[in-house]
Amino acid sequence: MKKTTELHVDRRQFLKGSVATAIVASIAGCASQVQGQQDSYLMSLIAKMTLAEKAGQLHMDGVLSPKMVQPNFQKINPFTPNFTPEQAAGLLAAQQAQIRSGQMGMMTSPEDIDSVVYAQTSAVKETRLKIPLIFGADIIHGHHTIYPIPLAEAASFEPELAERTARACAVEATTNLGIDVTYAPMVDIARDQRWGRVMEGAGEDVLLGSRFAAARVKGFQGKGLTDPKGLLACPKHFLGYGAAESGLDYAGTAMSNRLLHEVYLPPFKAAFDAGAIFTMAAFNTVDGVPSTGNKALLTDLLRTEMGFSGVVISDFQSELELINHGFAKDEREAAKLALDAGCDIGMVSGIYPKYVPQLVQSGELDEKVLDLAVYRILDVKMRAGLFDDPFLRVDQAHAADKAPAAHLALAREAGHKSIVLLKNTGQLLPLASNAKVALIGPFARDTKNVDGAWSPFAPQVASVSLAEGFKAKLAPSNLIIEDGCGISEAIEGGIERAVEAASAADVVLLAVGESASMSGEASSRASITLPAVQQQLAEAIAATGKPVVILLRNGRALALEGAVKQAQAIVVTWFLGTQSGHAIADIVMGEVSPSGRLPVTFPIASGQQPYYYARESSGRPTPVGESPMFKSHFIGIPDDPLYPFGFGLTYSTIEYQTPTVYTASVSKDGSVTVSAEITNTGEYEATEVVQCYMQDPYARIVQPVRKLLDFKKVTLQPGEQQTVSFTLLASQFAYLDQKLNKVLESGTIKLWVAPHARAGEAVEIDVV
Ligand code: BGC
Repeated sequence: MKKTTELHVDRRQFLKGSVATAIVASIAGCASQVQGQQDSYLMSLIAKMTLAEKAGQLHMDGVLSPKMVQPNFQKINPFTPNFTPEQAAGLLAAQQAQIRSGQMGMMTSPEDIDSVVYAQTSAVKETRLKIPLIFGADIIHGHHTIYPIPLAEAASFEPELAERTARACAVEATTNLGIDVTYAPMVDIARDQRWGRVMEGAGEDVLLGSRFAAARVKGFQGKGLTDPKGLLACPKHFLGYGAAESGLDYAGTAMSNRLLHEVYLPPFKAAFDAGAIFTMAAFNTVDGVPSTGNKALLTDLLRTEMGFSGVVISDFQSELELINHGFAKDEREAAKLALDAGCDIGMVSGIYPKYVPQLVQSGELDEKVLDLAVYRILDVKMRAGLFDDPFLRVDQAHAADKAPAAHLALAREAGHKSIVLLKNTGQLLPLASNAKVALIGPFARDTKNVDGAWSPFAPQVASVSLAEGFKAKLAPSNLIIEDGCGISEAIEGGIERAVEAASAADVVLLAVGESASMSGEASSRASITLPAVQQQLAEAIAATGKPVVILLRNGRALALEGAVKQAQAIVVTWFLGTQSGHAIADIVMGEVSPSGRLPVTFPIASGQQPYYYARESSGRPTPVGESPMFKSHFIGIPDDPLYPFGFGLTYSTIEYQTPTVYTASVSKDGSVTVSAEITNTGEYEATEVVQCYMQDPYARIVQPVRKLLDFKKVTLQPGEQQTVSFTLLASQFAYLDQKLNKVLESGTIKLWVAPHARAGEAVEIDVV
């Protein structure tokens, strides 16, 4: 083992004479006895704890770095407070004292691995009961190497890709930071593109969201809960956070219990089934009750109904926010209500250690509630291997390569697979290698808005800008670069210079879109269009008559307008992370073919939000492209998307035959196979995402117009034909009735095998 810091504790040394020895010995026996022995060990440990120590286990604080007392200390982590070296010394001493007194259970967002070692050493050497701490951080789409934002990766329709990138995140975060838990994946279904946190999840669809949730949990957790290079996953935010009213972050939800179960719960179930033992309570209310104080959600639904046996953590002081909601009258009541509801760990607020002991002493809180929460966190620490080895995820060669080359290659591959080609008039793309290109726009040279909103640990590795990506492909004389404007502000003479550059080129690559801070937490947008100055730039460039390829940088679906919408080609490039510029240039120059599909619907206008494909059948539907009076639509636009869910082009053309089923009916306990022939009728190899949808056209609860049931990614050579089949259980056609019972009625089901949510002809099957 490498001794990497003077604070580093040799774990074998530590094991001698520690509580861990007793546990290791106790679990060495017969496997069937292990759980019982662990339980009795934990019970006896709890019996030894004071009320203050118990409440302390439920407290999470931000880890302070021992280096912060140095005058030249540069903080990386936005959660680290601002301080002078003198203040830092005081803060650090106070935190150490709190750890030593056994009043800390979990710590968050360390600056560096030394902070983790420093705090853990105090916990396991200097506290009365030597209970290890558990460390968490937001490792959402990368640590040093940044991968595409989760929404972008969902566009790959390849959950295995997300499993691999989550795995790589875990390897880097354990190796370089020594943490145990990541507050990810975010599995909130997001159907309103005004909500900034759309970028953090897998988009609007329940099935896609569930598959990505499970894949990410598996990837983070690697070989299991005690994998030294694995991070425990914490799917979040429980529950319904993505349904924030009008897409406004931190707003309440208008939510039926059925919708909660049908749409918002399944990705959590998938994440728990994949092995997640943490979850995070959400900021929002559900039916008037804040999630963090919601016993019906955190205890009845999560634990009793779903059988979740892990730990619930609050979302950054959400237990304290019960006061702002007007749900708790003061801190003391907030602590009681949150803990009683089933929120085990309070993130950063400190109200658990402050009030829980008194609440128990006064009889206002049953000590059994406290003991159960303490049991859960101790049990999770044990399952995570920390009683056996508190430095399990620290004991790595963490001075090693911070971002291995294999991770860079994976980031580039993930970038390729996340890019979605929306439009390619006259096969403008891919560009010829000798094309004279004007790369224009506020993102042309930009390096600050490449990674996306969740990359606090990224600065060590420079991300590749568009300019660098295209410089690597084109002769210097064939590439002119102009900013044209800033992201939201004009540059003097910028548009004129950009027009000049466009006029001198064969083709314009116009890089427009959102800054990193325009999506993510607290970044809701009332209008999901491009900033006005960028639209002006696009109009001026279009007026040159040169063909324009829009390279869209975005953390959500956008409502494209004017010259951007009318451009000859549109490529959705999201925030792709470390290898962004290379991945985009590879696609534009045709070295890699585009294969991504939209995980969110692109609307015609912002005002259509929330707008998603799986909407209920309306009583007054409108035919595609039409806007007849007294039929459902907004004045001036048809009730259509600009680009539907699941849409994306390749450089080739794929034709679908009408699907077939081999039998006209299926019994309720049977299965049916639906197939379609697809042919690559173009000149390029193409990877197609073949999507299988259903509709129950007649039911006692109004059903969605379509619902994704499955998808497959297939690669076809020019001229190649393949039959793509989906075998579906009839039980997949069931729906939840008003009492939330699953019902499968006899009757017709429509099935599609199609390239997106609005395409294709249906085939019918009778459920008998
Ligand atoms: C976010 C969470 C995040 C937490 C800790 C909160 O503001 O809502 O998603 O995990 O902060 O950083």
